[in-house]
Amino acid sequence: MAKQFDVAVVGAGAAGMMCAATAAQRGKRVVLIDHADKLAEKIRISGGGRCNFTNINAGPANFLSENPHFCKSALSRFTPQDFLALVKKHRIGYHEKHKGQLFCDDSAEQIIEMLKAECAAGDVHWRMPAKVENLQQLDGQGFVLDTDSGTIQAGAVVIATGGLSIPKIGATDFGYRVAKQFGLKLVEPRPALVPLTFDAAAWAPFVPLAGIALEVEVETGTLKGRNATGARFREDLLFTHRGLSGPAILQISSFWQPNTPIVINLLPEMDLAQTLIEGKATLKKQLGNVLAQWLPARLAEGLLQAHGFAADARLADLPDARLRQLGQAVNQWSLLPNGSEGYRKAEVTRGGVDTRELSQQSMMAAKVPGLYFIGETIDVTGWLGGYNFQWAWASGVAAGLAI
Ligand code: FDA
Repeated sequence: MAKQFDVAVVGAGAAGMMCAATAAQRGKRVVLIDHADKLAEKIRISGGGRCNFTNINAGPANFLSENPHFCKSALSRFTPQDFLALVKKHRIGYHEKHKGQLFCDDSAEQIIEMLKAECAAGDVHWRMPAKVENLQQLDGQGFVLDTDSGTIQAGAVVIATGGLSIPKIGATDFGYRVAKQFGLKLVEPRPALVPLTFDAAAWAPFVPLAGIALEVEVETGTLKGRNATGARFREDLLFTHRGLSGPAILQISSFWQPNTPIVINLLPEMDLAQTLIEGKATLKKQLGNVLAQWLPARLAEGLLQAHGFAADARLADLPDARLRQLGQAVNQWSLLPNGSEGYRKAEVTRGGVDTRELSQQSMMAAKVPGLYFIGETIDVTGWLGGYNFQWAWASGVAAGLAI
């Protein structure tokens, strides 16, 4: 005999637990199903183990989607302050780190315990680890889910299985498969918030710079006009053996399109060419020493080498045209990534279930009454900095209230 529930939520991550708790506390009989052995691994590893659980400034402008207005309703009905109220209710210590990013003082584990407690308060039933082998819609009576631990019948099904990032901790394409099964469109998924890589030969001069970090300004794409699809961020950049990482690169990776460049300003506070030309008489004598005042010494040395300058070249001897070339290389370093580190390293997946198939109030598929999609599975992707969890909470609550 199939077990009967009002709601079956598939995926007990951030969005799934939030949705299950919300629906259950409204009196719905809810079952939460997850195939993983360990609960909510992504929350556990997030924010370096301290979970950047929201961003107090989160708003629709911090999200990418082919349907940019979709996220507005859910985000306005469950705000960062609403999540913070929950965090305070559970007496979890938190602090603001940078640009509105809120982290736990102690451990991400506290957020998992909080969500478990909220589920328990609504008497959510758990099936975990359990694999959904088959999902079918019944004629006007909800859905049947065949799992490897028995059959479940539910009036509504919420798909909260996340995106494709970090397969080794349980990410799957389940959400996309369900969408296809029910004839819903997908926006092509691709890794986002991910380190970028470069052709090995082109990157060779920069390999010795691995480990260097500095604040930069990075941009890609068109920034202005009606067709603006690009972005610019001022954040830290990190040189790696294979390419570039750090918050600046993770942010820009979500906007980067294959076969287009990214442009990095390594000295955003300064017009380097102008400073060098005007300072020929007053600055230090050797170019290497001049640059090392403003850039990490190893980077200054590497840049000079990569652009054919001797480190001991005397500034006063260099023609203005050469200094302008150097200025361009530092203030507008244009690079063509050949790809990214992929889902193995991506913090999130861009794209997913096309939001034009869903109600922005309830997250329900217009064509399939009773079938909901929430969280990272759908085509709403936040910037780095607590925005993706805010979307998981907000979309989870939207569905949990509507079911
Ligand atoms: P989530 O991935 O959390 O949950 C999906 C659940 O579905 C998982 O429990 C999985 O096991 C389950 N599942 C998958 N397939 C299944 C199947 N076939 N059957 C049953 N269950 C299935 N964001 C942020 O805002 N602040 C941060 O600090 C970070 N930090 C961070 C670090 C790292 C390393 C990563 C990889 C990601 C982040 N993120 C983040 C992003 C954030 O973790 C992510 O956006 C949310 O967890 C998405 O929540 P969801 O509930 O949609 O998916």
